[in-house]
Amino acid sequence: MYAAFRSVGSYVPKNVLTNEDLEKIVDTSDEWITKRTGIKTRYIADKEESTSDLGVEAAKVALKRASLRAEDINMIICATISPDYFCMPSTACMIAKKLGVSNIPAFDISAACSGFIYALAMARSFIESNMSKNILIIGAEKLSAIVDYSDRTTCVLFGDGAGAAVIGATKNKEEAIVDINISSDGNYYDYLITPGCGSNKPCSEETLEEHACFMKMKGNETFKVAVKTLTNDVIEILEKNGIESEKIDHFIPHQANYRILNAVAQALKLKESQVVITVSKYGNTSSASIPMAMNDLYEEGKLKVGDLMLLDAFGGGFTWGSAIVPFSPSN
Ligand code: ACO
Repeated sequence: MYAAFRSVGSYVPKNVLTNEDLEKIVDTSDEWITKRTGIKTRYIADKEESTSDLGVEAAKVALKRASLRAEDINMIICATISPDYFCMPSTACMIAKKLGVSNIPAFDISAACSGFIYALAMARSFIESNMSKNILIIGAEKLSAIVDYSDRTTCVLFGDGAGAAVIGATKNKEEAIVDINISSDGNYYDYLITPGCGSNKPCSEETLEEHACFMKMKGNETFKVAVKTLTNDVIEILEKNGIESEKIDHFIPHQANYRILNAVAQALKLKESQVVITVSKYGNTSSASIPMAMNDLYEEGKLKVGDLMLLDAFGGGFTWGSAIVPFSPSN
């Protein structure tokens, strides 16, 4: 059996947070944010909306586009760093409950912005080892719940949203995911970190005072490693598979920062038309950013059957990953 990328869907909450809105909250400016990141707006979930609510809406779209019912799914994998609940239950279990399915494996994975590619790698392995037939993978984030809106170095970057995909079994090699590479380097653990409220520093008055349950980032240092790693990673996977960059129909990188995307695209000598950029609209939605960008491409009618996608992500851990994936809807 091979694993095929059958469908994509996404969900974006309705509240828009503009750069001008942020100017009223922290000492920043539309000019700084635009110049340094390319971000103009990001979307923020309602108070009563949780990560699984975003994920379930994206999942419904992906299921419909794959012509599947929720009960046709054999497994749910959710990548997130902003789960509904601290520790348990998993957001994947909450999504399963909300989709009305039970008695299937459902679990979360934590690989920050690389989460969607990690989930894709796991889904592919389960399918290729004949353990599963149709797997729902979801990248869902309510990052506004873990962003410190008094810290201008992070709060301007992140947004909420979810993306989902159905990965299905096929005997047709033409439809199959070509290759996936995932990796990490924990030596950089403190470059992107929520320092408090884990077992290392349990929740206390001190962690609350220090805002330690919110994301902290060494932005500039992360930027440099991100550009180098993302570039090397895609060069490696393309070379390994003997694929020239001009054969890629859509380069869909994790949407962290326009400058990072631009630097990687230039290093790969990609044409503007090959590169999918949504960061200006959604900001950084971590594990959701790749399927959200892919969904926009699909809804614009630009993602066609057989199109070759190159995915590339980098995030906290550090973790990173790339994948070469043909778009293979079943109908
Ligand atoms: N508004 C105005 N000024 C600001 C802001 C802001 N929002 N944020 C920082 N500054 C200031 C800094 O204080 C600094 O001032 P100083 O020179 O007086 O000290 C100056 O701007 C420059 O700060 P840098 O951090 O050097 O700015 P940089 O150009 O590196 O841009 C950014 C910052 C956008 C965060 C960039 O470094 C970046 O995108 N980093 C990578 C992010 C990334 O890829 N993360 C991985 C994925 S995320 C995940 O896994 C969850």
